Amino acid sequence: MNFHIMTLFPDMVMNTLDTSILARAMNNGLIACEAVNIRDYTLRKNNRVDDYTYGGGAGMLMQAQPVYDCWKSIQDRLPKKSRVVFLTPQGRVFNQKIAEDLSKEDDLILLCGHYEGIDERVLDEIVTDNISIGDYVLTGGELPAIILVDAISRFVPGVLGNESSASTDSFQDGLLEYPQYSRPEVWHDKRVPEILMSGDHAKVDAWRLEQSIERTRERRPDLYKSFLAK
Ligand code: ADE
Repeated sequence: MNFHIMTLFPDMVMNTLDTSILARAMNNGLIACEAVNIRDYTLRKNNRVDDYTYGGGAGMLMQAQPVYDCWKSIQDRLPKKSRVVFLTPQGRVFNQKIAEDLSKEDDLILLCGHYEGIDERVLDEIVTDNISIGDYVLTGGELPAIILVDAISRFVPGVLGNESSASTDSFQDGLLEYPQYSRPEVWHDKRVPEILMSGDHAKVDAWRLEQSIERTRERRPDLYKSFLAK
């Protein structure tokens, strides 16, 4: 799967993505990430990409022309029309289901805004999906884009070393993940639950499901309600 990230801060994006599991996935050719600098497409002599907003108000706006030309230079290299995700607090709130859905694309273009936003006319023309990572406002779309690439990549076959990890994680079945333990058996006087040492896989599975349900009820009553309604 190929991610094309339109941004004014390509180093911020690439330095973060080129770490740990995603770096390994890139080296193995399972995913590819490119950060394309929107500033490279400005036609202005001073290299600027922002201007005042019509109607007044504080702050500057990213102009339509460099955003459009940057998008076109990416889209022209792709075999078919790609979905374009604009990271914005005005979008649908991102979740595991959206991540899984987006992971089915071969190419995905992510558009990061800055300043007070982007001229609406170019958004109208190129954006297919508006996505928010939560009800708070960040200084730009780069961190949200990185979060999307990470969550989506986990669904690309081979990215997680252990294929079953993605399907047993929190949220995958609408429940939070059960508690887990590693060595030693006793730490700070706390013992690993006996059942996990029993070797009885059916009992362990039943215990884990019960823990998942209880934890979800306690910590995320909203998810628990949906789980019960299923
Ligand atoms: N850009 C600024 N804030 C954002 C948010 N919460 N989600 C997505 N993009 C954003």
